Amino acid sequence: MNTALAPAPLVDRFGRVHTSLRVSVTDRCNIRCAYCMPATGVKFLPRNEILSFEEITRFVRILSAHGVRKVRLTGGEPLVRHNLSELVSQLAALPDVEEIALTTNGMLLADQAEALKTAGLDRLNISLDTLREAKFEQISRRTGLDQVLAGIASAEAAGFEGTRLNATSLRGFTEEEIIPLAEFALERGLELRFIEYMPLDAGHTWSHEQVLTGSEVLRRLGERFGELMPVEREDSSQPAVDYTVPGGGRIGFINSVSEPFCGDCNRLRLTAEGQVRNCLFSTIEYDARVLLRNGASDEELAQLVADAVAAKLPGHAINDESFLRPQRAMYQIGG
Ligand code: 5AD
Ligand code: SF4
Repeated sequence: MNTALAPAPLVDRFGRVHTSLRVSVTDRCNIRCAYCMPATGVKFLPRNEILSFEEITRFVRILSAHGVRKVRLTGGEPLVRHNLSELVSQLAALPDVEEIALTTNGMLLADQAEALKTAGLDRLNISLDTLREAKFEQISRRTGLDQVLAGIASAEAAGFEGTRLNATSLRGFTEEEIIPLAEFALERGLELRFIEYMPLDAGHTWSHEQVLTGSEVLRRLGERFGELMPVEREDSSQPAVDYTVPGGGRIGFINSVSEPFCGDCNRLRLTAEGQVRNCLFSTIEYDARVLLRNGASDEELAQLVADAVAAKLPGHAINDESFLRPQRAMYQIGG
């Protein structure tokens, strides 16, 4: 074992320093978004294959000694994991972790927002693709937009600040949602982010033509609100490019397909079953669970992560002919 590694930062071959970890806490979800999950017949992981809160917390503690400062909990839908606020408490007790965030579909948020806030959760991203129930049902194959809207309201009531709304953009499908979503977010002082549809759908039917690009969304917003102005980036590792709206408010774009931001990526991922991934699109995983469950030392786990970082490629190459899409869909990796 390379003990000299002990508190070394997680720097890859391209000088990218990894300070952010996305932890999927479950592959389960209470809805079935078409860009993520199959409509029927989803096979979820058996419970004993999912990391326990203690295993996750140990893993995060080890990475925090190597410079990880931000943790984002994802799924599946993280709020379907029983007693998630207990995990938040455990993570909040780690002295080197500066920010704990959560990405949720909002369906169960109204019941949990307060407990999450009390446990030490710092920020929320809530997915919202439409404000129309019929469209919500088309996208998510479930009912319940009202629950999501109640969840958004509860985030504010619980005192969360900097809550963001994430809208996935699909050409020929979500164009009509752009202006209503923007008005909704601006009225509430919430930041809205449009995310380009990525090749992570379970059906493997993604094609370039289905991507509603950020530039197209920006153009439509400009027609309604007047020209939006780009904001100077405070943090270059932020995947979004933010714009200010004339009259106030911010709208961001995650143009993963049309303008890849891999050069500034500082993120690592841990799947629900304890596999380390160095990229959303990587085809290789590093098995942390086997180490966690076989008595491995902190150093051995840190070495596994260092190996994953060392092997990180310069970018996802979605736009190259050689692009190999991951077998796993979004819900199996963690959004
Ligand atoms: N492309 C882009 N975004 C996606 N999400 C899920 N699947 C995809 C995809 N194929 C987004 C959801 C949610 C977050 C968890 O990931 O809309 O905001
Ligand atoms: Fe569930 Fe999120 Fe996937 Fe939608 S995108 S099916 S909410 S995990």
